[in-house]
Amino acid sequence: MCGIIGYNGPRKAEPLLIDGLKKLEYRGYDSAGIALVEKQGIQIFKKEGKVAALEAILPEESCATIGIGHTRWATHGAPKDRNAHPHSYGKVTLVHNGIIENEQALRTMLKNQGLSPISDTDTELIAMLMDHCYRGDPRDAIRAACALLEGSYALGILFEDHPQTLYAVRKDNPLILGLGEGEYFIASDIPAFSDHTPAYCLLDEGEIAELSPSGLTLYDRTDRIIKKPHHIADFGDISTVKDGYEHFMKKEIFEQPSVVRKTIDRYAENDRILTELGEDFRVDGKILIVGCGSAYHAALLGKNALEKYARIPTEVAIASEFRYSDPLLKKEDLVILISQSGETADTLAALRLAKEKGVPTLGIVNVFGSSIAREADTVLYTMAGPEISVATTKAYTCQAVMLYLLAMKLAHRSPAELKELPQAIESALEQESLCQKLAEKYASAEHLFFIGRGRDYAVSREGSLKLKEISYIHSEAYAAGELKHGTISLIEQDTPVIAVITDRTLLPKTAANIKEVRARGAQVLCIAPKNGLLPDCDRLDLPDCNDLAAPIATAVRCQLLAYYAALARGTDIDQPRNLAKSVTVE
Ligand code: G6P
Repeated sequence: MCGIIGYNGPRKAEPLLIDGLKKLEYRGYDSAGIALVEKQGIQIFKKEGKVAALEAILPEESCATIGIGHTRWATHGAPKDRNAHPHSYGKVTLVHNGIIENEQALRTMLKNQGLSPISDTDTELIAMLMDHCYRGDPRDAIRAACALLEGSYALGILFEDHPQTLYAVRKDNPLILGLGEGEYFIASDIPAFSDHTPAYCLLDEGEIAELSPSGLTLYDRTDRIIKKPHHIADFGDISTVKDGYEHFMKKEIFEQPSVVRKTIDRYAENDRILTELGEDFRVDGKILIVGCGSAYHAALLGKNALEKYARIPTEVAIASEFRYSDPLLKKEDLVILISQSGETADTLAALRLAKEKGVPTLGIVNVFGSSIAREADTVLYTMAGPEISVATTKAYTCQAVMLYLLAMKLAHRSPAELKELPQAIESALEQESLCQKLAEKYASAEHLFFIGRGRDYAVSREGSLKLKEISYIHSEAYAAGELKHGTISLIEQDTPVIAVITDRTLLPKTAANIKEVRARGAQVLCIAPKNGLLPDCDRLDLPDCNDLAAPIATAVRCQLLAYYAALARGTDIDQPRNLAKSVTVE
């Protein structure tokens, strides 16, 4: 949520900042801005809209070699020029990702000192506070101001009196330090600078990074200089450009056979699965899987497999609910936190709560070195590679695969069935043009339902989310047997219903529910095994594949349906309205 980039080095900062912002746009895209340290002082340019709108107002030529940039997902104040970052007050200019929770108290305090902000943001208050605390030493000012902040923040900061230096600090929001040859970056995520350097190091809470022409210096809470390990980003063969695809989402949908294969190969060698958990790994209590959005849906699929194969009671919780539910957890339970970004605020808070209760935690995370990866007792990385499209596809499938692997391990089963997965996904992708045709047929609908039972309900929920988030068609997923308990009143002539049946044992039951909606005029698209007798329906046939592969391959068909429905409606597929990929606020 919100993307930060900063540069200090010998090259011109402006194009590097703009390039970085474009790479970070998935984090928020309602306004953007940069601050450049020019000879005549710090110059700020900011604009409502996407980075392209900002580019249009930039000066022809900037000589600045230091600067900060920001792409925003509005929290405090509408997406207007004046609320866009950077914000400046007195000698301080900064960009911020996060939310300041004691904003009201700070506002009153600053007002009592005769200071009034011009924007509606919490960020401007930080700039005011820092300027107020500034007595000539930037690190003192940063520490003094941060001590008064409640909430979360990643900050890139410039001080007018120290035009050669860029500062960074963070709490509960990511900020990575890129280490080039005599040049340095700060960024919310590695792809923002990985074209320039693969080397990076992680900034921890309470530390301050000082990026100056003489190098990068890190200070701990007590202002002692510290050294930190350097890492090298390795995206393997996965690029962060569209590679000829019209959208990142389509590219990422088509990467699924390869990233799923990679994930399985990485964690299942012959009959040895997830060796990093140890040979004797077991769970004596229950498993609780916590996530948000599609990660929560992957958890639902995982629950199905863990209970079916390993026979371990498994609960699934939405992270934002879990946090405030006073959860009943025992030390013999296992809490799994599942997150693509590893930074989702509610999932991170759920992790901290589980740790407070002394329950073992396992993070299933896609982004290396992210907060959940660092704080969980054990971390397993999905091998999806960078995912740029806001709507997740390949990260979701890899999350489900990781939970399947865990189920196989705990059930002492061979992972052989999982090896069919990449092929099953390939056959789903081969149905692309049929998916497109069907999606175009349903694209004009205002409302749509998905129905399914058991694991097919889990897939339906992801299919429905995918469709609504990118095509803006209102869609609801229902447990097939539950629709008649009220919601069936919404079925009218031609209301589209997508019925998911990968579980043959439930085919007659869901078929009965299909008849109920058909009788009330619904037009039905059935995603079901080839020979399931379901008359009067559009069909997307499922080729034979095993019980683990079928739901995931069906989710991929749903991704294609959503993609082509959105394409037919002309929406912004990679950056749907109001959304952000990494949700670092509660
Ligand atoms: C956002 C994204 C979703 C994602 C969810 C959880 O809402 O738009 O696609 O599933 O966050 O994100 P995480 O990074 O924790 O998997």
